[in-house]
Amino acid sequence: MNIQSNNTAAASKNGKPNPFADNMQKVTSIHHWNDHLFSFRLTRPQSLRFRSGEFAMIGLMGDDGKAILRAYSIASPFWDEELEFFSIKVKDGPLTSRLQHIKVGDEVILKPKATGTLVNDALIPGKRLYLLATGTGIAPFASLIRDPETYEKFEEVIVTHTCRHLSDLEYGKDVVKRTMNDPLVGEEAVQKLKYYPTTTQETSEHEGRITDLINSGKLFEDLNLPPLSPQTDRIMICGSMPFNIDVKEICLANGFKEGSNSRPASFVLEKAFVGE
Ligand code: A2P
Repeated sequence: MNIQSNNTAAASKNGKPNPFADNMQKVTSIHHWNDHLFSFRLTRPQSLRFRSGEFAMIGLMGDDGKAILRAYSIASPFWDEELEFFSIKVKDGPLTSRLQHIKVGDEVILKPKATGTLVNDALIPGKRLYLLATGTGIAPFASLIRDPETYEKFEEVIVTHTCRHLSDLEYGKDVVKRTMNDPLVGEEAVQKLKYYPTTTQETSEHEGRITDLINSGKLFEDLNLPPLSPQTDRIMICGSMPFNIDVKEICLANGFKEGSNSRPASFVLEKAFVGE
């Protein structure tokens, strides 16, 4: 697979100047978790300021000289020197069919502007923070659980991650492990962070959709927590569209209100990078 790399900054393949020449960042590491998930890290431009949980546009130059850009949650926290991303691999996807072949030293377009609603600022104060993810929806939460502000604001932080297979959970598991050992947030995370991975199409310790585990009360039983309450709990949701819709319904039925940056409330949601 021909990924334009070291020459992308100067000119695109069709010889025209690359309009993103100032927005190229170098790949510093890549990890393939299975045949359809990978994570990678990029150098971080000094101009990029972001809040943990936000997303930015990243991409590659197409052979026609046009950029192929998609929204990606930044999986690293705001204080990290580099930027981490977690991606699916779609065989015929315009971007990920190529992005999955990047190598260390290649260049990726990164627009140095971040935005999003999965941020601490969009929630009113509470006791407990639930971060509910499916698939690559774990990425913004990988950022938030490594941000000291998350532990300053909440007494308990619960991350649930539901995937079809065990291997799909590996990236999240690794992030949680790194978080527990992190010099900045490790001590607080050990005390406050609860991680609840579930699988729906393979046997594991916790099986089933998180929606079912919430509705049956099993999630709370397993974690020794009270049922959801808008008085004490705050919720962030990130997954596929059907997942987001179903969890939103649960939130609304339990008296939670949807928040935004301009109107913080008790839950927020955002679509994970889905399909292409
Ligand atoms: P399931 O295997 O029962 O469909 P996907 O890869 O399709 O985005 O799904 C990722 C994970 O999210 C799967 O474990 C899937 O469970 C689960 N999931 C998909 N849709 C929903 C939904 N509407 N509510 C809860 N979980 C869902």
